[in-house]
Amino acid sequence: MARFDNHRILITGAGAGIGALMAEEFAAQGAEVIVTARRISAAREVADRIKAAGGKAHPYVLDVSKIASIAKFRDKLHQEVGPITTLINNAGVVFGGEFETVELEQHLNTFRVNSEGLMATTHAFLEDLIQSSEAFLVNIASASAFIGLPYGSTYAASKWAVVGFSESLRLELAVRKIKHVHVTSVCPSYISTGMFDGVKTPLFSPMLTPKKVVKSIMRGMQKKDAFVIEPPMAKSVELMKAILPQGIWDEVARRTGVSTSMYSWKGKKK
Ligand SMILES: NC(=O)c1ccc[n+]([C@@H]2O[C@H](COP(=O)([O-])OP(=O)(O)OC[C@H]3O[C@@H](n4cnc5c(N)ncnc54)[C@H](OP(=O)(O)O)[C@@H]3O)[C@@H](O)[C@H]2O)c1
Repeated sequence: MARFDNHRILITGAGAGIGALMAEEFAAQGAEVIVTARRISAAREVADRIKAAGGKAHPYVLDVSKIASIAKFRDKLHQEVGPITTLINNAGVVFGGEFETVELEQHLNTFRVNSEGLMATTHAFLEDLIQSSEAFLVNIASASAFIGLPYGSTYAASKWAVVGFSESLRLELAVRKIKHVHVTSVCPSYISTGMFDGVKTPLFSPMLTPKKVVKSIMRGMQKKDAFVIEPPMAKSVELMKAILPQGIWDEVARRTGVSTSMYSWKGKKK
């Protein structure tokens, strides 16, 4: 397992799900973790667990949909803790259902959190990463960044935006000869965190465990991979889309259950 000593890692949406698990796992591997969440109680709970296990953690409130608050939060963090070396943009929301029956505000909020919030957080902290001797930018996208997701169209669109953004920034840093900031896009299929409760997982794509996904993310960072894709089968989607005639690809997506997986989505009970 990779060590992350000397890394100060900021994770968004770290009060639950894979964000919370990443915070604990990175702390166990020597990192100092900035645990951010919309509610301070959720951030504190995770930070307290880390500290009880002997790790280093600082809980903070960060709602990435409040775009104007992000740069202010960066300044506060710099004063109270210092600059970061790694940013993990993990916060995300989803609202499933037939497109026109889901409230417009929920579609727009999906973009605000998953895409705009992620880009704004990166904008606020990229200079920290550039100033570090080694840094990671990890953007949590989704396997739905490669494939249409009926009943989850704005979620998929927001994740396509994340991959387009990550890839472009990764290439931009390379041409600017900034070789020590490693950018990784994470594209998992369904994970058993509750976010997608109710979905019917497609053929060849069983529900992933948070542990497996977090392990893959850490391994991908260690290898400085541009993409972490889980399950590995999802890697073939782009190739299949490129070689199959449209009608056949649509039929594959329907028959494997990809096109209908979100139909029964319920999500987390609030
Ligand atoms: N679960 C899956 O099947 C799956 C698959 C592929 C990709 N992903 C992605 O993985 C990431 C983590 O999801 P998860 O599965 O761990 O689900 P999760 O447990 O619901 O985690 C999402 C986290 O994002 C936080 N969040 C929501 N809106 C926020 C905002 N405005 N500002 C800051 N934080 C906010 C949530 O906080 P609250 O608890 O306060 O709502 C929660 O802590 C997301 O980006 C998701 O899209 C998940």
